[in-house]
Amino acid sequence: MLSSTVLKLRCPRSKCSSQKGELRVHAVKSIPIQTLDKQKLTDVWHGHVECPSCQSKYPILSGILILVEHVRDYLCVHVKGISKLVADAEIPKEYRNEYLKVKKEWLAEQGSEYIEEDLESERVTSLYLMNHYLRASESRDWFQAKNGSPLIENLISEFWDQGPFTHIEKWIRELRAQNLSELSVVELGCGVGGFSRMLKDSGFYLGVDSSFASIALARHLNLGVPYPHEIKIPGDLIDGAVSRTVEFKPIVNPNCDFILADLEELPLKTESFDGSVALNAIDMLDEPSKLPRLQFEAVKKDGFAIQSCPYIWHSKTAKRLRAKAPKVATDSAMVVEWLYEKAGFKIQKREVQIPWLFFKHFRQLEIYSVHAFLGFKN
Ligand SMILES: C[S@@+](CC[C@H](N)C(=O)[O-])C[C@H]1O[C@@H](n2cnc3c(N)ncnc32)[C@H](O)[C@@H]1O
Ligand SMILES: [Zn+2]
Repeated sequence: MLSSTVLKLRCPRSKCSSQKGELRVHAVKSIPIQTLDKQKLTDVWHGHVECPSCQSKYPILSGILILVEHVRDYLCVHVKGISKLVADAEIPKEYRNEYLKVKKEWLAEQGSEYIEEDLESERVTSLYLMNHYLRASESRDWFQAKNGSPLIENLISEFWDQGPFTHIEKWIRELRAQNLSELSVVELGCGVGGFSRMLKDSGFYLGVDSSFASIALARHLNLGVPYPHEIKIPGDLIDGAVSRTVEFKPIVNPNCDFILADLEELPLKTESFDGSVALNAIDMLDEPSKLPRLQFEAVKKDGFAIQSCPYIWHSKTAKRLRAKAPKVATDSAMVVEWLYEKAGFKIQKREVQIPWLFFKHFRQLEIYSVHAFLGFKN
């Protein structure tokens, strides 16, 4: 992590009262980041962040700050993503034995089926990487194949570049034109971090997500920090889940950073950003109404929120939402706009059905339709 990032953060412990207390960074190893304009920047690669109020320590592993209340649980649940990038010796001593036990069990199971929702798996992160960083108009190598599907290739050529990012980028450009050129933005559930590139020459961007594998890729691609593996994407599944390499061009944006945190205990200082973004995340939360509240708390007076999603609700969540929402809100888009208005946002711009393609492999393309809006804090 960049040491300056800590200024935006607070302790995630529910019982800690240190809203104002500054977290402190303790670096054991730092690495230089070479910016284009030769700014001297260092990334804390190994060390920890400490809360002076409750003395809790949060590890920094391979440049990634793990700012969650229950570090032990996090390390054990996310062993797959972590162990690909972090040497065992770097796991804090107090958690190492338990971590190694879980790692051993995981290694014994390796080769079993991956699950679609496994955001620490190489296959799933590779799908988001394509989505965030590849454009059909810039290169065709990644989706075209000898004997490939003409239908899939035509759909990608026509619609890939017209997805939610394209619409949201236009809103961001308009916001920056209205004297908001130095926007500071936090993205909740940022995944592999492609959104940060919309802000690369303005303000400050912070990406927050709970997937270690995604944050590591986001930091590599947007801060240029080392990544020890080749980045692969799917092709023909007979060759394996990910079998092809394409070029993902890392950039160095000294005004961005990405940390690990849980939206359920979001460790951000309140009202410290101009805007907050959450893409395809609201339907992953048990309590969706929490997301607009978090976005409201994160932004300053007159701050903005951008939200987009295809609303693939779990049935229990849908039932609860349906029961709470007013009768006039007759579909998911209206229910979510109602949640944001109730939290204190006024919706100013919206797109109701944006095509969003998800390339799974040479013989599978998923088509979603996404609702997106921009609202301002009342
Ligand atoms: C469907 S993905 C979308 C990723 C990215 N926003 C995009 O649109 O491509 C949802 C993201 O939310 C993250 N996420 C889900 N629940 C979370 C939580 N409780 N705390 C932090 N991140 C969470 C996941 O790790 C994942 O990266
Ligand atoms: Zn604390």
